[in-house]
Amino acid sequence: MTVPAHVAIIMDGNGRWAAQRGWPRIKGHKAGVQTVERILEAASDAGVQHLSLYAFSTENWKRPPLEVGALMALLRMYLRMFLHQLAQKGIRFHHLGATEGMPAGILADMRTLEEATAHNTGMVFHLAVNYGSRLELAQAARRCVEDGLRPGEINEDALSARLWTAGVPDVDLLIRTSGEHRISNFLLWQSAYAELYMTDLLWPDFGSGELQVALEDYAQRERRFGGI
Ligand code: FPP
Repeated sequence: MTVPAHVAIIMDGNGRWAAQRGWPRIKGHKAGVQTVERILEAASDAGVQHLSLYAFSTENWKRPPLEVGALMALLRMYLRMFLHQLAQKGIRFHHLGATEGMPAGILADMRTLEEATAHNTGMVFHLAVNYGSRLELAQAARRCVEDGLRPGEINEDALSARLWTAGVPDVDLLIRTSGEHRISNFLLWQSAYAELYMTDLLWPDFGSGELQVALEDYAQRERRFGGI
C-alpha cells in the first residue's frame, strides 16, 4: 500500500463533541488531546514520515479569553507529557507557526521538546500553534527581500525554502474531521496537490481505525499533479 509521506490534519469538532454531552468546550479539547496521542502512534506505526496537526491558528486568538487560556494551559501540560511518548517512538517534534505573540513559556517548552527529540530518526511531528498560511507566505516573501534576492530570483523554490516547512515534503493527504469542508488557512502552499479526506467524525471520536481508512482511501487515489 502506498503510504503518504506527509499527512496533515485539521482537528475539528472538539467543541461540538463536548456540547453534545452538555460539557464545557475545554473538556472536548482534553478529549482531543487523547486523540492526538492515539494518532501520533498510529501514524508512526503506519510509516508516515511527517504528521502536521493544526492545534491553534493565528485566528484562534479571537476565541473567548477563557477558552484561549485553557487551550494554552492544556498545550503546556501536554508538551511536557509528550516527551516520553515521542522518545519511545523515536518521533521528532517541530513547532510550526509564528513565534511572535506566543506566550514565552509555551515557546520555551516547544524549544525544549525540539531539542530533546532532535536526534530521533522516526516520524516528524509538526504541531501547528499560532499558525496561519497567509502569514507564513507573507513572511517568506519578506525574507526573500531581506536576503537581497532580485525579482527574477523570487521563484517557487526560493519561497518554499523560506516557509516554516522548509525541507519538508508537500502534504500528500489532508484530513479534516467534523464534517466541515474548509482548509481554514492551513498549509495552503504545501497542500497544492494534496488529496483531501473529509470525515463527519468529531476529532475526539477519530481513532487509529479511521486513520487506517483514510490511508487506504488515499492508496486508491490516482494522483496526476496536473498531468494526464
Ligand atoms: C477545533 O475544535 C479544535 C481546536 C481549535 C483545537 C485543537 C486542539 C487540540 C486537539 C488540543 C491540542 C493540544 C495538544 C497538546 C496537541 P473546535 O473547538 O473548533 O470545535 P467546534 O468546531 O466543534 O466548535
